[in-house]
Parts: sequence; C-alpha cells; structure tokens
Amino acid sequence: MPLSHQQWLRQRLFVLGSLVLGSLFFLVVREGTLDRLQLICLIKDRLSPACASGQIPLHALQHKQALRLKLHRRNSTREQLQMHHLIKQLPRAIIIGVRKGGTRALLEMLSLHPDVVTASQEVHFFDNDLSYACGVDWYLKNMPFSFPNQITIEKSPAYFITEEVPERIFKMNSSIKLLLIVREPTTRAVSDYTQVLKGKEHKNKTYDKFEELVIDTNTCEVNTKYKAVQTSIYTKYLEHWLKFFPIEQFHIVDGDRLITDPLPELKMVEQFLNLPSQISQYNLYFNATRGFFCLRFNFMFNKCLVGSKGRIHPNVNPSIKAKLERFFHPFNQKFYQITGRTFNWP
Ligand SMILES: *[C@@H]1O[C@H](CO)[C@@H](O)[C@H](O)[C@H]1NC(C)=O
Ligand SMILES: *[C@@H]1O[C@H](CO)[C@@H](O)[C@H](O)[C@H]1NC(C)=O
Ligand SMILES: *[C@@H]1O[C@H](CO)[C@@H](O)[C@H](O)[C@H]1NC(C)=O
Ligand SMILES: *[C@@H]1O[C@H](CO)[C@@H](O)[C@H](O)[C@H]1NC(C)=O
Repeated sequence: MPLSHQQWLRQRLFVLGSLVLGSLFFLVVREGTLDRLQLICLIKDRLSPACASGQIPLHALQHKQALRLKLHRRNSTREQLQMHHLIKQLPRAIIIGVRKGGTRALLEMLSLHPDVVTASQEVHFFDNDLSYACGVDWYLKNMPFSFPNQITIEKSPAYFITEEVPERIFKMNSSIKLLLIVREPTTRAVSDYTQVLKGKEHKNKTYDKFEELVIDTNTCEVNTKYKAVQTSIYTKYLEHWLKFFPIEQFHIVDGDRLITDPLPELKMVEQFLNLPSQISQYNLYFNATRGFFCLRFNFMFNKCLVGSKGRIHPNVNPSIKAKLERFFHPFNQKFYQITGRTFNWP
C-alpha cells in the first residue's frame, strides 16, 4: 500500500530529526568532555597560580600559512605536507640577553625565517624561581605552536645576568644554542637608564639624572653598584656562563649593526643555527619616518617594531661619557678575546 504524502513527510521528518538530535547529542557530549578536560587543567593550574600558562600566540603563524600554501603548490613530498601537525617544542636556541641590546629586534627578525617560530612574550622560566618550580612541562606549555621541522626560539634578557640561569638551562639541554646580542656598553647603559626613566615619567615620578647614578659621589669614579653599569660589563657574566657551556655554543650578535644593517648579522645567525639562508633584503625594508627597518613576511603581511624601541636618549655629559668608556675598555678587550668577535667600541 503506497504511503500517503503526509506519512511520507512524517517519516522524512523523523529521519531528519533523529539526525539533528544525534548530531546535537554528539556535540554536547564532545564539548562536555572538552570542557571537563579544560576544567581539570584549570584546577591543576589553580593549585599553583604561578604555573598558569601564558597565551598561545597563534597569530605568529600567520605567515607560516603562506609557506604551507607554497609547499602545496610546489611538488612537495608527503613528509613536507605532513607538517600540518602543529606541536609545541622546547627551544633549540635561546636569546639570553642582553637587556637593551636589541633582543626584541633580533627575535622578530629571526621570525622572518620560515623554519623559525618565536615565543612572542618573554617567558622568564629560568630566572623566575616560581616559574622554574613549575617544571619543564610548564616551559613547554608556554612555547608557541610549530611544525615538527621548525625550531622554536625564545628570548628573556634577564637570563644573561641571573646567576642561577646557566646551570638551569644546562640541566634542560646541555647542547642548546645561545644567542647573545650586545651593543656598545656605554650606549647600552644610557638606553637602560632611559627605559627606567620613561617608566618613572609615565607614573609622574621624578628620577635621578644619569650622571648622578653613574658616578659615585664619594670617589668620583664610576658607580659599579649601579645596575645599568654592571649589566654592561659583559665579560663578567659571560665568564660565569662559560663554567657551564663551551664558547662554541654561543653566538654574539652586534646589536648596533643589527639596527643599521641587519642582513649580514641575520645571515650569521642562520649559519650558527644551521638553517638554510632564507632571510633576504626583501624581508627588511627601511622606513625613513621611523629611521628603522620594518619586516616584510610576505606581500600581505608586514610589521614594524613598536614605537618604544629606538627611543631618543638624553644627552650625556661628554666627560662622564668618556669616563664610562674608559671604564668599560678593559672589560671589552677581555670580551673580544673570549668571544673571538671584535667590535670597534671605544
Ligand atoms: C614531482 O616529483 C616527482 C617525484 O619526485 C617527479 O618524478 C616529478 O617529475 C615532479 N614533478 C614536477 C612537476 O616537478
Ligand atoms: C638540545 O639542543 C640541540 C641544539 O639546538 C638540539 O640539537 C637537541 O635536539 C636538543 N636536545 C633536546 C633533548 O631537546
Ligand atoms: C601626571 O600629571 C599630569 C599633569 O600634571 C596629569 O594630567 C596626569 O593625569 C598625571 N598622570 C598620572 C598617571 O598620575
Ligand atoms: C613607516 O612608519 C610610520 C611611522 O611609524 C608608519 O606610520 C608607516 O605606516 C610606516 N610605513 C611603512 C611602509 O611601513
């Protein structure tokens, strides 16, 4: 007996309805488990608030997307195409410092390389006791997603001057590569001071003049207790690092040159990291308004470093500047000797 039109319609609706309900049920169950999983993780994190993990800088992968497309268009091997799987990896290289040496610029410029993924924020794992107590799992959780063939790099400038850090990094990976970016020590000290000064001005607070901080009024000599002076004595900190790592595991980047002529410096870093030479002049264009290089990831996506970088330094009394330069001179000589890289610092 043929079905009436109404019956036929009812049957169809029943099938359709079941499908919809089934799908909904599936989704609810699935989301439910996801939520519960997330809850468990949240509770775990809440046990120790310091161990809450940071955000995931997925936007950093924006230009990696373009690379993936390129690989598709090319005659890529199966292996190359399997790179769709995003994972988190411990850093193969760390930019350990130095503060105001150009660590942010270096990190951003290295992120131009298709095989490099960078942690967008300073992780401060090895220099912060609370974070360090969370363990390497926490460190890994704070790394960005990457493809298996890429390497992850993070930067935390405080690592260089924090006593516990070299040993802690050594315990994680004794063959890790270490990048140290330095600037002419007096310039760096002024830049260090300027950053603190701007912070104070922002809060409407007054701050001593550079000259007052940098000179010990009792002796009229350089005040070696002032942190901005100490940090510029690169050799002192490097020698401590060398108790754990051989000098071959370090690469020194010229922070002054990275600003005026970045490409040769980046080529040397690529070589040190055993990466194919990929960053080219195309990726770096000079912005005359800013007086600084901007980064071009691809024809659509470019990025200029934020405004606080490259801020104007106060004028420093020339005789005090000369005094500082004389003070740093012997330490600089030692630094050249240890690293095998000579700069034309005063
Ligand atoms: C793609 O790769 C295969 C195997 O490597 C090769 O035989 C073929 O010629 C390639 N095709 C193109 C267009 O390059
Ligand atoms: C340690 O770092 C080196 C250099 O980047 C890398 O080749 C090696 O795979 C790393 N080892 C571990 C266990 O991550
Ligand atoms: C700083 O001072 C200026 C002018 O005296 C005032 O307009 C501003 O709100 C103050 N800012 C803060 C953060 O107190
Ligand atoms: C150059 O820098 C200025 C000032 O920061 C900015 O407004 C402009 O968009 C930049 N131009 C390019 C091409 O990046």
